[in-house]
Amino acid sequence: MQWGKMKYRLVFLVTITVAFYSVNLRAVQSGASEPRTTFKQTEAITKTKNPFGWKIETASSVYQIALAQDNIVVPVYYGPRGQALDILKPGVKVDTRAGDTIQEVHLYQGQHGPFLELHNDRIKVYLDFKVGSTIREVPFRGGFVEQTPAVEVVFPDGTRDCELVYASSEIFEIDGFPCLRIDLKDPAYGLFVSSYIRVIPELDILEKWIVLTNKGTEPIRIENAQSGSVWLPPDEYELLHLCGKWGHEFMLQRTRLTPGVKTIQVRGFVANETPPWFAVTPADQGSETQGAVWFGGLHWSGNWRLDFEKNFNGNVQIIGGINFWDTTWQLKSKEQFSTPKMVFGFAPDGMTGASTRMHTYIRRHVLRPKFRNTLRPVLYNSWYATTFYVNEEQQLALARIAKEIGVELFVIDDGWFKGRVNDHAGLGDWTVDKKKFPNGLKPLIKKINDLGLDFGIWVEPEMVNPDSDLYRAHPEWALHYPKRTPHQLRHQLVLNLARQDVYDYLLESLTTLLRENNIRFIKWDRNRPLSEPGWPDAPRSMQREVRIRFIHNLYRLIDELRARFPEVLFETCSSGGGRNDLGIFSRMDQVWTSDNTDPVGRIMIQHGFLHAFPAKLMVSWITHEDWHNVRPSLRFRFHVSMSGVLGIGADLTTWSQQQRDLAAEMIAQYKQIRPVVQEGICHRLHSPFESNRAALEYVLPDGSQAVVFLYNLWETLGGSTPSARASGALHLRGLDPDANYSLTGDWQGTVDGRTLMNIGLPWFIRGNFNSAIVMLKRQTKQ
Ligand code: DGJ
Repeated sequence: MQWGKMKYRLVFLVTITVAFYSVNLRAVQSGASEPRTTFKQTEAITKTKNPFGWKIETASSVYQIALAQDNIVVPVYYGPRGQALDILKPGVKVDTRAGDTIQEVHLYQGQHGPFLELHNDRIKVYLDFKVGSTIREVPFRGGFVEQTPAVEVVFPDGTRDCELVYASSEIFEIDGFPCLRIDLKDPAYGLFVSSYIRVIPELDILEKWIVLTNKGTEPIRIENAQSGSVWLPPDEYELLHLCGKWGHEFMLQRTRLTPGVKTIQVRGFVANETPPWFAVTPADQGSETQGAVWFGGLHWSGNWRLDFEKNFNGNVQIIGGINFWDTTWQLKSKEQFSTPKMVFGFAPDGMTGASTRMHTYIRRHVLRPKFRNTLRPVLYNSWYATTFYVNEEQQLALARIAKEIGVELFVIDDGWFKGRVNDHAGLGDWTVDKKKFPNGLKPLIKKINDLGLDFGIWVEPEMVNPDSDLYRAHPEWALHYPKRTPHQLRHQLVLNLARQDVYDYLLESLTTLLRENNIRFIKWDRNRPLSEPGWPDAPRSMQREVRIRFIHNLYRLIDELRARFPEVLFETCSSGGGRNDLGIFSRMDQVWTSDNTDPVGRIMIQHGFLHAFPAKLMVSWITHEDWHNVRPSLRFRFHVSMSGVLGIGADLTTWSQQQRDLAAEMIAQYKQIRPVVQEGICHRLHSPFESNRAALEYVLPDGSQAVVFLYNLWETLGGSTPSARASGALHLRGLDPDANYSLTGDWQGTVDGRTLMNIGLPWFIRGNFNSAIVMLKRQTKQ
């Protein structure tokens, strides 16, 4: 009787703490400032004794892992600081009748999941985690399986179960950030799995990956190796993710997680449908500025999957990595297989807090150091003006006007290479088309450089047209099955970049192109997904490795080109926004967000994009496109594109002097606000998904400057629709409340930060598809 009561009271104690945490979270205010950088990194990972394990503390989160008595490593807690096991330290009083003090804590794996045994010399109390049974830090296929596994292997004797028990651990640093490595081993076979957690404490970010090593003598078949898994405390949760299709990328989706598994994934490489990014929030609670958010993304540009598995108790497991659909890997004796990094983050301060952390992580830790701290240039791309019909004279005519209006980089898109009369031919032959450019590209590039512009070029290296010299010479270089129809899309096939000869060919042709011409920018496109991923020349055991080997070689190729040509800026593109992930962003400096350049569509696309990725990557061009038949003004188009990396794609030769003057004015204004847009913290003030308005604010991390973009979509009679009944005040965020700000641009005056945030700016624009930009500068205090 007494025993039962004590057990009940301890469980109750934890429940109270969880409830307290929720209340606490609701009281936390907006993530208005840059994550702090003073967090002591050396304190981030500590070993715990009772129970034996590790505690990872970041500025706002705790991730706790412990070793159960059966030597299995178990995730214990992931969430806000000051939670759960913090109360179970030895020496802490527990709520038993006698006011006992805990002396020892052990973690056991029970039939119904892990539980803690708390000792002193008089009593033993048990505390149930209520997380379901057999949860593991690195979930493996073996024993009872009640979660999505991260490791699934087949041993040489056909055994498909594994057991991964604790072997050793180390806390060390990678590039100045603390990292925990936990080594697990299978007692019966030569499989070793090292699980890594690298911590960026001030951003509340954990990078997880695993490395499998075969120390046996025969190959082990890997059927699945996920990068990392976390468990959230029991609650009702919602998943926010991005989905879409060509021309409609980055549409926000919100769905409640019910018991079962929700998967987002790609199986054909191209990810216009969904990038590997997520945010999970307690249901019906959070907002842009308040509430807990667990978020993350994956460093992988091939097939990937993210699973969100909810059990009946309300715990949610989030796990992600390479999609092993139709994929296996033969791990030979003495070899290793490393997964890409999966990033998990926690924000106590709403979606803005989550995206600020992710944006900062990408800018500070993912982008190539060379271009991490440089601003992206204003570019002109001639694709919409001249498509495949390019020649020197006409490109130069465009470049002259581009220079006149303030462009810094001129890019020639598709159509410049041998045989590329249309999209039926030429892909694979990366030499200049002598019919279009009889003297090669050099004279054009020189003239463009003489104008004071850098020169950039488009390539699509992973593809081949059957009508090309390359395909005629090497049809076996395309992915194919001998007896299956080779499906073409845009008249092209996918090269098998898993092959060393294809890698060598691409490295050599792109090196020649870059060495012979003064090219400072590459737009790297990829216009179709995979089909028939066959590799008949490879040994049978390697054939299902083709997708992973492809991406390994793609990364190797880009890395080698970047090492050979460090001054070249790279833009990733895949029929618009089909390749947006942390793996490609660690190699390419900006992204072509969508082929939809209609400014109204772009407001939605960019709103979604900015949840996951920073404006510094988000290339946005002004063209003539008008998908909704609303005749947006040139000014409106500029205002939409100026909220990212500004580019122009229109046929400048058709622009009147008045249009060119306006463009010159807008580009000059963009150059003024560019550091704030590209380096600032992004606040999504008004969502176009929720009303007929959109507004974005970027604030420099020190609060000294800000810029606000206001967009009216259509205007309905005031009060006639829910969105027309919306507040007329635009509350700014992230400013210094005690400072005065000078407002310039489309609204002028001097207003203090507190008023701008609490009372706000009036929504001063009127009429359909109208827009405004307001620039704010903090006045120096007297
Ligand atoms: C698709 C890209 O998204 C476009 O911007 C353009 O580069 C075309 N490919 C060229 O073929």
